[in-house]
Amino acid sequence: MVLVTGGLGFIGSHVCRELVAQGERVVVFDNFIQGNLEFLKKVRMPDICDKIEFVSGDITDFAFVFETLKEYDIKKIIHTAAITFIPTAIKKPSLTFNVNTVGSFNLLEASRILDMDKFVYISTASTYGDFQYSPADEKHPLNPKDVYGATKVAADRLACSYFHTYGLSASIVRTSAVYGPGDLERRAAKAFIENALQGIPMRLEGGGLQMRDFSYVKDVASGMVLALNSSKSAGEAFNVTGGSEYSVKNLAETIHKYIPGSKIEVTDARKVDAKRGMLDISKAKRVLGYEPKYSFDAGIREYVRWMAEVYAPLFGLKVKNQPVFD
Ligand SMILES: NC(=O)c1ccc[n+]([C@@H]2O[C@H](COP(=O)([O-])OP(=O)(O)OC[C@H]3O[C@@H](n4cnc5c(N)ncnc54)[C@H](O)[C@@H]3O)[C@@H](O)[C@H]2O)c1
Repeated sequence: MVLVTGGLGFIGSHVCRELVAQGERVVVFDNFIQGNLEFLKKVRMPDICDKIEFVSGDITDFAFVFETLKEYDIKKIIHTAAITFIPTAIKKPSLTFNVNTVGSFNLLEASRILDMDKFVYISTASTYGDFQYSPADEKHPLNPKDVYGATKVAADRLACSYFHTYGLSASIVRTSAVYGPGDLERRAAKAFIENALQGIPMRLEGGGLQMRDFSYVKDVASGMVLALNSSKSAGEAFNVTGGSEYSVKNLAETIHKYIPGSKIEVTDARKVDAKRGMLDISKAKRVLGYEPKYSFDAGIREYVRWMAEVYAPLFGLKVKNQPVFD
């Protein structure tokens, strides 16, 4: 059985879907901080929730984590649970450290004691900090600028150390600017689509020239499961992203293509973003057989459709601009 921590979350729910499609039995371990279980099932996994077992628990509680792994006879873990939204992490550094670092340590330690077959940890491009070169490969220095990135580096390196010290088959997947159905945080793509549907302009701070390696959530989930199933991934980190660079302006323009009534507005730059770029995904391609299947355009198209057809009615958005997919 595979345990997915944070399995009711944005990326975790897609990981569950990929695992279920491959015939795996899945247990979700989550503390449901984004809403109640039944509502989150409806938002994120109406198609697969009856094939999954749900455990309500907190990864900072070592004893409960340990007992759950034993009770369900878990052999493999995909660990996505975290405080993930950077503004929340900035407001709550202590919680962020406890969940992201101590919680990850708890899972690794329980996995060591129980002799887990495989452990996959989802890390982030934020661990690289300002990119010194682009595309950034996995050897790029880890130099995060914020608390979120620092707590993720700690867990990323702990996972690797558990391989080198104890032989735990742990792998790390680093991804970036994930977008797609199921995101409930106001990250750029979601905030823009939400605004565009409601007739509120998409605002480009400083012209929206910030570059991101946007990653479609289904591609990220497939990369995570490839790392889980690979016999060559132990002790290794892999960049798993869309593998191309787009600006925030490109994002708004692509959304505009599918929501033609939407408006784009340019505002002054409020803050300096971390200097980012593209991630080099050649290692994931070579070792895991990873290949992003969604172009940026195809991913945005599918995301706009989900926002209009699923998210808007569930969250009571007043849609003024209907999307067009011809
Ligand atoms: N979204 C992105 O763009 C992005 C980019 C890079 C890496 N990541 C990483 O991917 C992972 C998933 O991110 P997401 O965007 O799906 O976030 P999310 O907030 O949608 O999901 C996180 C899930 O973890 C659960 N959780 C939080 N604290 C917990 C705790 N103490 N115990 C048990 N469960 C807990 C939440 O209830 C939620 O279901 C995170 O580790 C994040 O750092 C995300």
